[in-house]
Amino acid sequence: MALLNFNPPVIAHRGASAYAPENTLAAFTKAAQLGVKWVEFDVMLSADGEVIVFHDDSLDRTTNGKGEVVCYPYSYLRTLDVGAWFDARFAGEKIPSLQQVMALLSEARMSANVEIKAPLGQEKALVLRVLDQLSTYLLSGQSTILFSSFSMDALHLLRQHAPDCLLGMLLHEWEPHWEKNSALLKCDAIHVNQAIMTREHAQHIKHMGKPLLCYTVNDAARAQELYSWGVDAVFSDAPDIIMRE
Ligand code: G3P
Ligand code: MG
Repeated sequence: MALLNFNPPVIAHRGASAYAPENTLAAFTKAAQLGVKWVEFDVMLSADGEVIVFHDDSLDRTTNGKGEVVCYPYSYLRTLDVGAWFDARFAGEKIPSLQQVMALLSEARMSANVEIKAPLGQEKALVLRVLDQLSTYLLSGQSTILFSSFSMDALHLLRQHAPDCLLGMLLHEWEPHWEKNSALLKCDAIHVNQAIMTREHAQHIKHMGKPLLCYTVNDAARAQELYSWGVDAVFSDAPDIIMRE
């Protein structure tokens, strides 16, 4: 199994999403140009089972379409504009498929944190499709792939169907049974909302011997504080601001 190594200790959140529209090829290209080695992105299923790289359940915020993503086939979703809302310079940017993003990252020799975002009941369909599409990368080890999810069901499915995969538990709050679940799932990393992170929590997780990642940090001073507590890497929309320090 590949070892987790975060150097520089920054993960471009949805790509370099402060400088290009989130979860687009433009945002991943920008991350590569900034010298980042890891990107995080969100994956969902279209109505016809294509794995797409997209964050919201709804199309409204970041596209020129409307409604729920899961209602539309990829043949329609791929026609939408996901760049113009961010800046006219990015008009014409499209929702990428997982395959397109992985091809770019592989070419740039970058590592991927694939965050599984499945609506309730769709976890199995999404996890199986993602594992199928990533099988070449997972077998060859040519790109390090770290999966994560807020969904315990999705994490269990990943561990069940890909026993050797790298798994990160995502915590927005300190949930009551997170440590037990992390042990059960043999999680390889813990990904925590930076707003709830304290020195004590960080030390505790580091004593467990797990890599600790915090999202989303766009302030260099906060990143330095988290590093001083033992945090291994932060997710940032503006990785260059963090790396400059
Ligand atoms: O994976 C870290 C972070 O992306 C989790 O929250 O909502 O930005 O996907 P969100
Ligand atoms: Mg995410």
